[in-house]
Amino acid sequence: MKALIPAAGLGTRFLPATKSQPKEMLLVVDRPAIQYVVEEGLASAADEVVIINSRTKKAIEDHFSPDPELVALLRERGKDAYADEVERVGNMNVSYVYQEEALGLGHAVRCAAEKTGDEAFYVLLGDVLVPDNKMLPRMQEISDAHGGASVIAVMPVPHEEVKRFGVIAGSPVSDDVWKIDSLVEKPAPEDAPSNLAVFGRYLLSPRVMELLADAKPTVGGEIQLTDALDAVLKEEEMYALVIDPSDGFDTGTVESWLETNNVLWKRRTQE
Ligand code: G1P
Repeated sequence: MKALIPAAGLGTRFLPATKSQPKEMLLVVDRPAIQYVVEEGLASAADEVVIINSRTKKAIEDHFSPDPELVALLRERGKDAYADEVERVGNMNVSYVYQEEALGLGHAVRCAAEKTGDEAFYVLLGDVLVPDNKMLPRMQEISDAHGGASVIAVMPVPHEEVKRFGVIAGSPVSDDVWKIDSLVEKPAPEDAPSNLAVFGRYLLSPRVMELLADAKPTVGGEIQLTDALDAVLKEEEMYALVIDPSDGFDTGTVESWLETNNVLWKRRTQE
C-alpha cells in the first residue's frame, strides 16, 4: 500500500522564499515540512511513500537520498546524533513520479496510478502536518470496519471559510464518523451542504484512481480529486473522520506556517 504526497505546486504564496527552493523544503522547527508528511506516511499501513514531484524540485529528492560522505564526516567529528538522523532520512522508503503540468490535485494523484495498481492508497497533502501520526491509523480502522470503504478526514470550519475547501454532505454515524452522501469543491457559503471541510488526509479505494482517468477540469479550471470522490459515491460507500482542528497544523500560508513553527517549537522545548 502506498501513501501519495502531491508536491509539484509552485508555492506561489511563499514567493520570493520559494523562487529557487521548494515550498515543501521550508523549515518547520528542525526539518523540512515534507519530512513530517513522509514520516506520517511511513508510520501508517503504507510501506512506501510516493512523492508526486515536479522536475524542477530536485532538492526534495536530495533530502531523502543517502549521503554516506556527510555521515562519515559527522561520525569522525563525534557528532553521532546528527549522523544517525542524516542516515535515517536518507534511508526512508520514498520514490518519485512526475507531474509534468500543474493541472490540479486530481491530475497529480492520477500521475501515481502505476504505483498504486489495484490497491487502496493514502493521499497526504503537504500543507497540513499531523505530527502525532494518529490520523491515518484511525482512518484505516474506520475503513476496515466498513468493508474497505474510502475514508477522508474533515474538519469543522467557520461557515464563511467553506469556499476555500472541499465540503461534504452526509449524516453522523457515531461521535466522530459521518457517512458521506456527496462532496462539492469550494462552494459559496450559501450553497455549502455543511461546514465540514476536507482537511488533506484521504484513504481511497482503487476505484477512485480509475475514475480519475476520465475526470475533466471543473472548479478553477483544474482536475479536482473532489469530483472523483463524488463520482465514486454512486458505486461505493465513503466515510468521513471528523477531526479536531488541534490535531493538524496548517503551513499553507506564511502566517499559518509561522504559527505552526511557534506552536511546535514550544512543544519541543517543553518535552
Ligand atoms: C485541496 C482540495 C480541497 C481540500 C484542501 C485541503 O484544495 O481540493 O478539497 O479541502 O486541499 O487543504 P487546495 O487547497 O489545493 O486548493
